[in-house]
Amino acid sequence: MNSRPSIAFAKFAAPKKGSVFVLAADDGGLGEPAKACDPAKTLDRAFPVADFTGKFASLVEVLAPEGTPLDRLLAIGAGKVSGLDDYAWLKLGGTIAASLRKATEVAVVLDVPGAAIGGKQAASVAAGILLRSYAFDKYKTKKDRDDGQNGKAAEPKKPVKVTIHTADPAAAKKAFADEVAIIDGVLLARDLVNEPANALGPVEFAARAKELEALGVKVEILTEKEMKKLGMGSLLGVAQGSPRGARMAVMQWNGGKAKDSPVAFVGKGVTFDTGGNSMKPASGMEDMKGDMGGAAAVTGLIHALAARKAKANVVGVIGLVENAVDGNAQRPGDIVTSMSGQTIEVLNTDAEGRLVLADALWYCNDRFQPKFMVNLATLTGAVMVALGQHYAGLFSNNDELSDRLTAAGQATQERLWRLPLGAEYDKLIDSKNADMKNIGGRYGGAIIAAQFLQRFVKETPWAHLDIAGTAMGSPPSEINQSWGSGFGVRLLDRLVRDNYEG
Ligand code: BES
Ligand code: MN
Ligand code: ZN
Repeated sequence: MNSRPSIAFAKFAAPKKGSVFVLAADDGGLGEPAKACDPAKTLDRAFPVADFTGKFASLVEVLAPEGTPLDRLLAIGAGKVSGLDDYAWLKLGGTIAASLRKATEVAVVLDVPGAAIGGKQAASVAAGILLRSYAFDKYKTKKDRDDGQNGKAAEPKKPVKVTIHTADPAAAKKAFADEVAIIDGVLLARDLVNEPANALGPVEFAARAKELEALGVKVEILTEKEMKKLGMGSLLGVAQGSPRGARMAVMQWNGGKAKDSPVAFVGKGVTFDTGGNSMKPASGMEDMKGDMGGAAAVTGLIHALAARKAKANVVGVIGLVENAVDGNAQRPGDIVTSMSGQTIEVLNTDAEGRLVLADALWYCNDRFQPKFMVNLATLTGAVMVALGQHYAGLFSNNDELSDRLTAAGQATQERLWRLPLGAEYDKLIDSKNADMKNIGGRYGGAIIAAQFLQRFVKETPWAHLDIAGTAMGSPPSEINQSWGSGFGVRLLDRLVRDNYEG
Protein backbone atom coordinates (compact mmCIF):
# COMPACT_ATOMS: atom_id res chain seq x y z
CA MET A 1 0.00 0.00 0.00
CA ASN A 2 1.03 3.60 -0.27
CA SER A 3 2.07 3.84 3.35
CA ARG A 4 4.72 1.14 3.11
CA PRO A 5 7.82 2.32 4.99
CA SER A 6 11.16 2.37 3.22
CA ILE A 7 13.91 0.55 5.06
CA ALA A 8 17.67 1.12 5.17
CA PHE A 9 20.44 -0.28 7.37
CA ALA A 10 23.37 1.69 8.77
CA LYS A 11 26.17 1.46 11.29
CA PHE A 12 25.57 3.01 14.69
CA ALA A 13 25.49 6.81 14.63
CA ALA A 14 23.52 9.32 16.67
CA PRO A 15 20.50 10.37 14.53
CA LYS A 16 20.08 14.12 13.98
CA LYS A 17 16.31 14.35 13.59
CA GLY A 18 13.00 12.53 13.67
CA SER A 19 11.98 9.73 16.02
CA VAL A 20 14.43 7.29 17.53
CA PHE A 21 13.69 3.88 18.98
CA VAL A 22 16.31 2.30 21.20
CA LEU A 23 16.27 -1.17 22.76
CA ALA A 24 16.35 -1.63 26.50
CA ALA A 25 17.39 -4.88 28.14
CA ASP A 26 15.32 -6.59 30.83
CA ASP A 27 16.99 -4.54 33.57
CA GLY A 28 16.30 -1.33 31.65
CA GLY A 29 19.95 -1.20 30.55
CA LEU A 30 20.75 0.75 27.40
CA GLY A 31 23.62 0.14 24.97
CA GLU A 32 26.26 2.75 24.20
CA PRO A 33 24.66 3.84 20.87
CA ALA A 34 21.38 4.42 22.70
CA LYS A 35 23.09 6.52 25.34
CA ALA A 36 24.63 8.63 22.58
CA CYS A 37 21.09 9.49 21.44
CA ASP A 38 20.21 10.71 24.90
CA PRO A 39 22.93 13.02 26.24
CA ALA A 40 20.67 14.47 28.91
CA LYS A 41 19.70 10.95 30.05
CA THR A 42 16.02 11.73 29.82
CA LEU A 43 15.23 8.03 29.46
CA ASP A 44 16.89 7.21 32.77
CA ARG A 45 14.53 9.69 34.37
CA ALA A 46 11.51 8.50 32.37
CA PHE A 47 11.89 4.79 33.20
CA PRO A 48 10.93 4.94 36.89
CA VAL A 49 8.16 7.45 36.15
CA ALA A 50 6.66 4.98 33.65
CA ASP A 51 7.42 1.89 35.77
CA PHE A 52 9.41 0.69 32.79
CA THR A 53 11.55 -2.37 33.43
CA GLY A 54 12.52 -3.37 29.90
CA LYS A 55 9.78 -6.01 29.75
CA PHE A 56 9.48 -7.44 26.24
CA ALA A 57 7.62 -5.09 23.86
CA SER A 58 6.85 -2.47 26.53
CA LEU A 59 7.44 1.11 25.52
CA VAL A 60 8.42 4.48 26.96
CA GLU A 61 8.19 7.64 24.94
CA VAL A 62 9.85 10.99 25.59
CA LEU A 63 8.82 13.94 23.43
CA ALA A 64 11.38 16.54 22.34
CA PRO A 65 14.11 15.07 24.57
CA GLU A 66 16.34 17.63 26.19
CA GLY A 67 19.75 18.23 24.64
CA THR A 68 18.92 16.55 21.33
CA PRO A 69 17.46 17.66 17.98
CA LEU A 70 15.00 14.73 18.05
CA ASP A 71 11.21 14.86 17.98
CA ARG A 72 10.78 11.72 20.04
CA LEU A 73 12.94 9.22 21.81
CA LEU A 74 11.38 5.85 22.53
CA ALA A 75 12.78 2.96 24.48
CA ILE A 76 11.37 -0.44 23.66
CA GLY A 77 11.82 -3.33 26.04
CA ALA A 78 13.57 -6.34 24.56
CA GLY A 79 13.33 -8.53 27.64
CA LYS A 80 15.97 -11.26 27.74
CA VAL A 81 17.63 -10.61 24.40
CA SER A 82 19.56 -13.87 24.20
CA GLY A 83 16.29 -15.81 24.48
CA LEU A 84 14.43 -14.07 21.64
CA ASP A 85 13.38 -16.25 18.71
CA ASP A 86 12.69 -15.18 15.12
CA TYR A 87 9.09 -14.35 15.84
CA ALA A 88 9.98 -12.20 18.86
CA TRP A 89 12.14 -9.99 16.62
CA LEU A 90 9.27 -9.69 14.17
CA LYS A 91 7.02 -8.68 17.05
CA LEU A 92 9.48 -6.00 18.15
CA GLY A 93 9.31 -4.61 14.62
CA GLY A 94 5.52 -4.72 14.80
CA THR A 95 5.55 -2.88 18.12
CA ILE A 96 7.77 -0.19 16.63
CA ALA A 97 5.48 0.20 13.63
CA ALA A 98 2.51 0.60 15.95
CA SER A 99 4.16 3.68 17.48
CA LEU A 100 5.29 5.46 14.32
CA ARG A 101 2.46 8.02 14.43
CA LYS A 102 3.25 11.01 12.21
CA ALA A 103 6.97 10.32 11.95
CA THR A 104 8.47 10.56 8.49
CA GLU A 105 11.99 9.83 9.60
CA VAL A 106 12.72 7.07 12.08
CA ALA A 107 15.88 5.48 13.41
CA VAL A 108 15.91 2.15 15.23
CA VAL A 109 19.02 1.49 17.27
CA LEU A 110 19.55 -2.22 17.78
CA ASP A 111 21.96 -2.64 20.62
CA VAL A 112 21.83 -3.72 24.25
CA PRO A 113 24.64 -4.37 26.71
CA GLY A 114 26.07 -7.87 26.71
CA ALA A 115 24.19 -9.40 23.74
CA ALA A 116 25.18 -9.53 20.09
CA ILE A 117 22.31 -8.71 17.74
CA GLY A 118 22.95 -10.17 14.29
CA GLY A 119 21.94 -9.20 10.78
CA LYS A 120 19.17 -11.77 10.73
CA GLN A 121 17.58 -10.24 13.82
CA ALA A 122 17.85 -6.76 12.36
CA ALA A 123 16.18 -8.01 9.18
CA SER A 124 13.37 -9.56 11.23
CA VAL A 125 12.74 -6.24 12.98
CA ALA A 126 12.48 -4.58 9.57
CA ALA A 127 10.14 -7.33 8.39
CA GLY A 128 7.92 -6.82 11.43
CA ILE A 129 7.71 -3.11 10.66
CA LEU A 130 6.55 -3.81 7.11
CA LEU A 131 4.03 -6.48 8.08
CA ARG A 132 2.48 -4.31 10.77
CA SER A 133 2.36 -1.23 8.53
CA TYR A 134 0.15 -2.90 5.93
CA ALA A 135 -3.34 -1.49 5.54
CA PHE A 136 -5.93 -2.29 2.90
CA ASP A 137 -6.91 1.29 2.13
CA LYS A 138 -7.03 1.40 -1.67
CA TYR A 139 -10.77 2.12 -1.64
CA LYS A 140 -10.59 4.93 0.91
CA THR A 141 -10.66 8.27 -0.84
CA LYS A 142 -10.05 9.91 2.54
CA LYS A 143 -7.12 8.34 4.27
CA ASP A 144 -7.18 7.64 8.00
CA ARG A 145 -5.78 10.41 10.08
CA ASP A 146 -3.20 9.58 12.69
CA ASP A 147 -5.13 11.38 15.40
CA GLY A 148 -8.05 8.99 15.19
CA GLN A 149 -10.41 11.43 13.49
CA ASN A 150 -10.73 9.02 10.65
CA GLY A 151 -11.90 10.23 7.31
CA LYS A 152 -12.00 13.89 8.16
CA ALA A 153 -8.86 14.97 6.39
CA ALA A 154 -7.92 14.00 2.89
CA GLU A 155 -4.18 14.18 3.54
CA PRO A 156 -2.57 10.87 2.76
CA LYS A 157 -0.04 9.66 5.28
CA LYS A 158 3.52 10.30 4.08
CA PRO A 159 5.61 7.17 3.72
CA VAL A 160 8.07 6.84 6.54
CA LYS A 161 11.81 6.33 6.11
CA VAL A 162 13.23 3.89 8.61
CA THR A 163 16.95 3.46 9.19
CA ILE A 164 17.97 0.50 11.30
CA HIS A 165 21.26 1.08 13.06
CA THR A 166 23.01 -2.21 13.65
CA ALA A 167 26.44 -3.74 14.16
CA ASP A 168 26.54 -5.45 10.75
CA PRO A 169 24.40 -3.54 8.25
CA ALA A 170 25.72 -5.55 5.30
CA ALA A 171 24.58 -8.83 6.84
CA ALA A 172 21.24 -7.25 7.74
CA LYS A 173 20.73 -6.03 4.19
CA LYS A 174 21.46 -9.47 2.82
CA ALA A 175 19.05 -11.19 5.21
CA PHE A 176 16.45 -8.52 4.53
CA ALA A 177 16.38 -9.29 0.79
CA ASP A 178 14.89 -12.72 1.56
CA GLU A 179 12.55 -11.19 4.11
CA VAL A 180 11.19 -8.77 1.52
CA ALA A 181 10.43 -11.68 -0.80
CA ILE A 182 8.42 -13.37 1.94
CA ILE A 183 6.70 -10.18 3.08
CA ASP A 184 5.64 -9.36 -0.46
CA GLY A 185 4.15 -12.84 -0.64
CA VAL A 186 2.26 -12.28 2.62
CA LEU A 187 1.02 -8.86 1.53
CA LEU A 188 -0.07 -10.24 -1.83
CA ALA A 189 -2.11 -12.88 -0.01
CA ARG A 190 -3.62 -10.24 2.28
CA ASP A 191 -4.50 -8.04 -0.68
CA LEU A 192 -6.22 -10.91 -2.49
CA VAL A 193 -8.25 -11.85 0.59
CA ASN A 194 -9.23 -8.26 1.36
CA GLU A 195 -10.28 -7.46 -2.19
CA PRO A 196 -14.07 -7.49 -2.61
CA ALA A 197 -15.60 -10.13 -4.85
CA ASN A 198 -16.92 -7.63 -7.39
CA ALA A 199 -13.30 -6.75 -8.15
CA LEU A 200 -11.82 -10.21 -7.78
CA GLY A 201 -13.59 -13.11 -9.45
CA PRO A 202 -12.02 -16.24 -10.93
CA VAL A 203 -10.83 -14.43 -14.07
CA GLU A 204 -9.30 -11.52 -12.17
CA PHE A 205 -7.63 -13.82 -9.66
CA ALA A 206 -6.13 -15.86 -12.49
CA ALA A 207 -4.71 -12.66 -13.97
CA ARG A 208 -3.03 -11.90 -10.64
CA ALA A 209 -1.49 -15.37 -10.62
CA LYS A 210 -0.28 -14.82 -14.18
CA GLU A 211 1.68 -11.78 -12.98
CA LEU A 212 4.07 -14.14 -11.20
CA GLU A 213 5.62 -14.82 -14.59
CA ALA A 214 7.60 -11.62 -14.02
CA LEU A 215 9.47 -13.52 -11.29
CA GLY A 216 10.28 -16.47 -13.53
CA VAL A 217 7.31 -18.60 -12.50
CA LYS A 218 5.71 -20.70 -15.23
CA VAL A 219 1.98 -20.00 -15.05
CA GLU A 220 -0.73 -21.82 -16.97
CA ILE A 221 -4.37 -20.81 -16.73
CA LEU A 222 -6.88 -23.54 -17.49
CA THR A 223 -10.25 -22.32 -18.76
CA GLU A 224 -13.60 -24.01 -18.28
CA LYS A 225 -13.30 -25.63 -21.67
CA GLU A 226 -9.97 -27.21 -20.77
CA MET A 227 -11.23 -28.31 -17.37
CA LYS A 228 -14.27 -29.85 -18.97
CA LYS A 229 -12.02 -31.85 -21.27
CA LEU A 230 -10.07 -33.05 -18.25
CA GLY A 231 -13.31 -34.23 -16.67
CA MET A 232 -13.38 -31.83 -13.71
CA GLY A 233 -17.12 -32.17 -13.19
CA SER A 234 -16.84 -31.64 -9.46
CA LEU A 235 -15.19 -28.20 -9.67
CA LEU A 236 -17.28 -27.11 -12.63
CA GLY A 237 -20.52 -28.05 -10.88
CA VAL A 238 -19.77 -25.40 -8.26
CA ALA A 239 -19.03 -22.76 -10.87
CA GLN A 240 -22.11 -23.34 -13.01
CA GLY A 241 -24.35 -20.93 -11.10
CA SER A 242 -22.07 -17.96 -11.75
CA PRO A 243 -21.66 -15.94 -14.94
CA ARG A 244 -18.04 -15.29 -14.02
CA GLY A 245 -16.62 -18.60 -15.15
CA ALA A 246 -14.01 -20.84 -13.59
CA ARG A 247 -10.24 -21.01 -13.86
CA MET A 248 -7.42 -23.13 -12.57
CA ALA A 249 -4.00 -21.56 -12.20
CA VAL A 250 -1.00 -23.87 -12.30
CA MET A 251 2.17 -22.16 -11.10
CA GLN A 252 5.58 -23.81 -11.32
CA TRP A 253 8.73 -22.54 -9.70
CA ASN A 254 11.68 -24.67 -10.74
CA GLY A 255 14.54 -23.56 -8.52
CA GLY A 256 15.70 -27.08 -7.65
CA LYS A 257 17.49 -29.88 -9.49
CA ALA A 258 16.04 -30.68 -12.90
CA LYS A 259 15.05 -34.28 -12.09
CA ASP A 260 13.80 -33.59 -8.57
CA SER A 261 10.06 -34.19 -8.17
CA PRO A 262 8.27 -31.09 -6.92
CA VAL A 263 6.52 -30.29 -3.69
CA ALA A 264 2.97 -29.14 -4.29
CA PHE A 265 0.54 -26.70 -2.74
CA VAL A 266 -3.13 -26.64 -3.62
CA GLY A 267 -5.60 -23.90 -2.72
CA LYS A 268 -9.34 -23.41 -2.46
CA GLY A 269 -10.17 -20.29 -4.44
CA VAL A 270 -13.88 -19.64 -4.02
CA THR A 271 -13.90 -15.93 -4.80
CA PHE A 272 -17.33 -15.64 -3.20
CA ASP A 273 -19.39 -18.27 -1.43
CA THR A 274 -23.11 -17.54 -1.28
CA GLY A 275 -23.72 -21.17 -0.41
CA GLY A 276 -25.44 -21.66 -3.75
CA ASN A 277 -28.96 -23.10 -3.62
CA SER A 278 -28.23 -24.21 -0.03
CA MET A 279 -27.88 -20.52 0.60
CA LYS A 280 -26.09 -18.98 3.56
CA PRO A 281 -27.92 -16.57 5.85
CA ALA A 282 -27.41 -12.86 5.07
CA SER A 283 -25.68 -12.07 8.34
CA GLY A 284 -21.93 -12.27 7.89
CA MET A 285 -22.13 -13.41 4.28
CA GLU A 286 -19.83 -10.54 3.27
CA ASP A 287 -16.97 -12.48 4.86
CA MET A 288 -17.26 -15.02 2.06
CA LYS A 289 -15.24 -12.71 -0.18
CA GLY A 290 -12.34 -14.26 1.72
CA ASP A 291 -13.24 -17.83 0.77
CA MET A 292 -10.25 -17.84 -1.54
CA GLY A 293 -7.81 -17.55 1.39
CA GLY A 294 -6.25 -20.91 0.52
CA ALA A 295 -5.61 -19.91 -3.08
CA ALA A 296 -4.28 -16.54 -1.88
CA ALA A 297 -1.81 -18.26 0.44
CA VAL A 298 -0.60 -20.55 -2.35
CA THR A 299 -0.16 -17.59 -4.72
CA GLY A 300 1.64 -15.57 -2.04
CA LEU A 301 3.85 -18.55 -1.26
CA ILE A 302 4.88 -19.05 -4.88
CA HIS A 303 5.62 -15.33 -5.04
CA ALA A 304 7.82 -15.60 -1.93
CA LEU A 305 9.71 -18.69 -3.14
CA ALA A 306 10.32 -17.28 -6.62
CA ALA A 307 11.31 -13.83 -5.36
CA ARG A 308 13.91 -15.30 -3.03
CA LYS A 309 14.92 -17.85 -5.66
CA ALA A 310 14.28 -20.86 -3.44
CA LYS A 311 16.33 -23.93 -4.38
CA ALA A 312 13.34 -26.18 -4.74
CA ASN A 313 10.87 -27.31 -7.36
CA VAL A 314 7.45 -26.17 -6.30
CA VAL A 315 4.02 -26.41 -7.86
CA GLY A 316 0.99 -24.34 -6.89
CA VAL A 317 -2.47 -25.31 -8.12
CA ILE A 318 -5.51 -23.19 -7.29
CA GLY A 319 -9.12 -23.84 -8.21
CA LEU A 320 -10.95 -20.56 -8.87
CA VAL A 321 -14.74 -20.41 -8.90
CA GLU A 322 -17.59 -18.33 -7.58
CA ASN A 323 -20.27 -20.25 -5.69
CA ALA A 324 -23.29 -18.24 -6.83
CA VAL A 325 -26.94 -18.89 -7.65
CA ASP A 326 -28.76 -18.50 -10.91
CA GLY A 327 -31.24 -20.71 -12.73
CA ASN A 328 -28.39 -22.94 -13.83
CA ALA A 329 -26.88 -23.36 -10.37
CA GLN A 330 -26.30 -26.88 -9.08
CA ARG A 331 -29.10 -28.29 -6.92
CA PRO A 332 -28.99 -30.41 -3.77
CA GLY A 333 -29.17 -34.00 -4.93
CA ASP A 334 -27.26 -33.45 -8.15
CA ILE A 335 -24.63 -36.08 -8.90
CA VAL A 336 -21.36 -34.99 -10.49
CA THR A 337 -18.41 -36.99 -11.80
CA SER A 338 -14.98 -35.83 -10.65
CA MET A 339 -11.76 -36.03 -12.66
CA SER A 340 -10.85 -39.13 -10.62
CA GLY A 341 -13.91 -40.88 -12.04
CA GLN A 342 -15.51 -41.03 -8.60
CA THR A 343 -19.09 -39.76 -8.44
CA ILE A 344 -20.33 -37.33 -5.82
CA GLU A 345 -23.85 -36.67 -4.64
CA VAL A 346 -24.04 -32.97 -3.81
CA LEU A 347 -26.40 -32.90 -0.84
CA ASN A 348 -25.43 -29.39 0.21
CA THR A 349 -24.22 -26.86 -2.34
CA ASP A 350 -22.58 -24.89 0.47
CA ALA A 351 -20.07 -27.69 1.02
CA GLU A 352 -18.42 -26.52 -2.20
CA GLY A 353 -14.78 -26.10 -1.22
CA ARG A 354 -14.21 -29.84 -1.06
CA LEU A 355 -15.78 -30.19 -4.53
CA VAL A 356 -13.29 -27.69 -5.93
CA LEU A 357 -10.34 -29.28 -4.16
CA ALA A 358 -11.33 -32.81 -5.22
CA ASP A 359 -10.45 -32.00 -8.83
CA ALA A 360 -7.55 -29.68 -8.01
CA LEU A 361 -5.87 -32.32 -5.80
CA TRP A 362 -6.47 -35.11 -8.30
CA TYR A 363 -5.10 -33.04 -11.17
CA CYS A 364 -2.05 -31.98 -9.22
CA ASN A 365 -1.23 -35.51 -8.08
CA ASP A 366 -1.88 -37.04 -11.47
CA ARG A 367 0.16 -34.55 -13.45
CA PHE A 368 3.11 -33.84 -11.15
CA GLN A 369 3.47 -36.89 -8.87
CA PRO A 370 4.73 -34.56 -6.18
CA LYS A 371 6.82 -35.48 -3.12
CA PHE A 372 3.87 -34.28 -1.10
CA MET A 373 0.75 -32.16 -1.42
CA VAL A 374 -0.35 -29.61 1.13
CA ASN A 375 -3.73 -28.03 0.49
CA LEU A 376 -5.07 -24.92 2.18
CA ALA A 377 -8.73 -24.05 2.40
CA THR A 378 -11.20 -21.94 4.32
CA LEU A 379 -13.14 -25.14 4.37
CA THR A 380 -15.41 -25.38 7.40
CA GLY A 381 -17.06 -23.33 10.12
CA ALA A 382 -16.61 -26.46 12.21
CA VAL A 383 -12.85 -26.00 12.47
CA MET A 384 -13.49 -22.65 14.13
CA VAL A 385 -15.80 -24.31 16.62
CA ALA A 386 -13.03 -26.82 17.39
CA LEU A 387 -9.95 -24.58 17.49
CA GLY A 388 -11.07 -20.96 17.55
CA GLN A 389 -9.03 -18.52 15.52
CA HIS A 390 -5.51 -19.07 16.84
CA TYR A 391 -4.71 -22.43 15.28
CA ALA A 392 -5.51 -23.84 11.88
CA GLY A 393 -6.66 -27.45 11.65
CA LEU A 394 -4.10 -29.92 10.31
CA PHE A 395 -5.08 -33.27 8.83
CA SER A 396 -2.54 -35.61 7.31
CA ASN A 397 -1.91 -39.15 6.13
CA ASN A 398 1.81 -38.78 6.92
CA ASP A 399 3.42 -38.23 10.32
CA GLU A 400 6.69 -36.81 8.98
CA LEU A 401 4.95 -34.17 6.89
CA SER A 402 2.61 -33.41 9.75
CA ASP A 403 5.50 -32.98 12.21
CA ARG A 404 7.40 -30.75 9.81
CA LEU A 405 4.34 -28.57 9.31
CA THR A 406 3.75 -28.36 13.04
CA ALA A 407 7.37 -27.31 13.62
CA ALA A 408 7.17 -24.66 10.89
CA GLY A 409 3.95 -23.46 12.52
CA GLN A 410 5.67 -23.03 15.87
CA ALA A 411 8.61 -21.20 14.31
CA THR A 412 6.44 -18.74 12.41
CA GLN A 413 3.59 -18.61 14.93
CA GLU A 414 1.20 -19.62 12.17
CA ARG A 415 0.20 -22.47 14.38
CA LEU A 416 -1.37 -25.81 13.46
CA TRP A 417 -3.19 -28.38 15.54
CA ARG A 418 -3.53 -31.90 14.21
CA LEU A 419 -6.97 -33.47 14.18
CA PRO A 420 -7.73 -37.12 13.42
CA LEU A 421 -8.64 -38.99 10.28
CA GLY A 422 -10.02 -42.50 10.29
CA ALA A 423 -12.20 -45.12 8.65
CA GLU A 424 -15.08 -44.47 11.09
CA TYR A 425 -15.27 -40.91 9.81
CA ASP A 426 -14.68 -41.86 6.21
CA LYS A 427 -17.72 -44.08 6.04
CA LEU A 428 -19.95 -41.17 7.02
CA ILE A 429 -19.66 -39.85 3.48
CA ASP A 430 -20.64 -43.06 1.71
CA SER A 431 -23.73 -42.36 -0.38
CA LYS A 432 -26.71 -44.48 -1.39
CA ASN A 433 -26.85 -42.94 -4.84
CA ALA A 434 -23.21 -42.26 -5.74
CA ASP A 435 -19.67 -43.14 -4.62
CA MET A 436 -19.83 -40.49 -1.92
CA LYS A 437 -21.82 -37.52 -0.72
CA ASN A 438 -20.38 -34.11 0.09
CA ILE A 439 -21.67 -33.87 3.66
CA GLY A 440 -21.72 -36.28 6.62
CA GLY A 441 -23.58 -36.21 9.90
CA ARG A 442 -24.04 -33.50 12.47
CA TYR A 443 -20.70 -33.84 14.28
CA GLY A 444 -17.04 -33.60 13.35
CA GLY A 445 -17.64 -31.40 10.32
CA ALA A 446 -13.99 -30.40 9.86
CA ILE A 447 -12.91 -34.05 9.95
CA ILE A 448 -15.60 -35.15 7.52
CA ALA A 449 -14.48 -32.49 5.06
CA ALA A 450 -10.90 -33.75 5.41
CA GLN A 451 -12.01 -37.33 4.82
CA PHE A 452 -13.68 -36.22 1.64
CA LEU A 453 -10.44 -34.63 0.40
CA GLN A 454 -8.45 -37.73 1.29
CA ARG A 455 -10.44 -39.73 -1.25
CA PHE A 456 -8.67 -37.70 -3.94
CA VAL A 457 -5.02 -38.02 -2.87
CA LYS A 458 -4.23 -41.76 -3.11
CA GLU A 459 -0.93 -42.71 -1.36
CA THR A 460 0.87 -39.40 -1.81
CA PRO A 461 1.94 -37.80 1.47
CA TRP A 462 -0.65 -35.14 1.98
CA ALA A 463 -1.80 -32.57 4.49
CA HIS A 464 -4.92 -30.45 4.58
CA LEU A 465 -4.88 -27.15 6.45
CA ASP A 466 -8.33 -25.83 7.33
CA ILE A 467 -7.65 -22.11 7.62
CA ALA A 468 -11.27 -20.89 7.94
CA GLY A 469 -10.48 -19.36 11.34
CA THR A 470 -7.03 -17.97 10.63
CA ALA A 471 -7.02 -16.61 7.06
CA MET A 472 -9.52 -13.86 7.67
CA GLY A 473 -11.11 -12.00 10.52
CA SER A 474 -8.65 -13.47 12.99
CA PRO A 475 -7.71 -11.30 15.97
CA PRO A 476 -5.29 -8.48 15.10
CA SER A 477 -1.72 -9.26 16.13
CA GLU A 478 1.60 -7.48 16.55
CA ILE A 479 2.34 -8.10 12.90
CA ASN A 480 -1.10 -7.90 11.33
CA GLN A 481 -3.93 -5.42 11.71
CA SER A 482 -5.79 -6.25 8.53
CA TRP A 483 -8.80 -8.51 8.02
CA GLY A 484 -6.93 -10.78 5.64
CA SER A 485 -3.93 -12.19 7.50
CA GLY A 486 -1.95 -13.86 4.72
CA PHE A 487 -1.89 -16.97 6.92
CA GLY A 488 0.11 -19.80 5.41
CA VAL A 489 2.73 -17.92 3.43
CA ARG A 490 5.29 -17.59 6.21
CA LEU A 491 4.43 -21.07 7.46
CA LEU A 492 4.97 -22.84 4.15
CA ASP A 493 7.98 -20.77 3.14
CA ARG A 494 9.50 -22.01 6.38
CA LEU A 495 8.47 -25.61 5.67
CA VAL A 496 10.21 -25.46 2.30
CA ARG A 497 13.27 -23.64 3.60
CA ASP A 498 13.85 -25.96 6.56
CA ASN A 499 13.26 -29.26 4.75
CA TYR A 500 13.31 -29.13 0.98
CA GLU A 501 16.09 -26.80 -0.17
CA GLY A 502 19.73 -27.49 -1.01
N1 BES B 1 -16.51 -21.32 3.11
C1 BES B 1 -17.28 -22.07 4.02
C2 BES B 1 -16.60 -22.28 5.36
C3 BES B 1 -16.34 -21.04 6.17
C4 BES B 1 -17.28 -20.62 7.10
C5 BES B 1 -15.17 -20.35 6.04
C6 BES B 1 -17.02 -19.47 7.85
C7 BES B 1 -14.93 -19.23 6.82
C8 BES B 1 -15.85 -18.79 7.71
C9 BES B 1 -17.60 -23.43 3.43
O1 BES B 1 -17.76 -23.47 2.05
C10 BES B 1 -18.90 -23.86 4.02
O2 BES B 1 -19.88 -23.24 3.74
N2 BES B 1 -18.87 -24.91 4.81
C11 BES B 1 -20.04 -25.42 5.44
C12 BES B 1 -20.06 -26.91 5.26
C13 BES B 1 -21.35 -27.56 5.64
C14 BES B 1 -22.43 -27.18 4.64
C15 BES B 1 -21.16 -29.05 5.65
C16 BES B 1 -19.98 -25.03 6.90
O3 BES B 1 -18.90 -25.01 7.48
O4 BES B 1 -21.03 -24.72 7.46
MN1 MN C 1 -19.71 -22.99 1.43
ZN1 ZN D 1 -16.76 -22.04 1.02
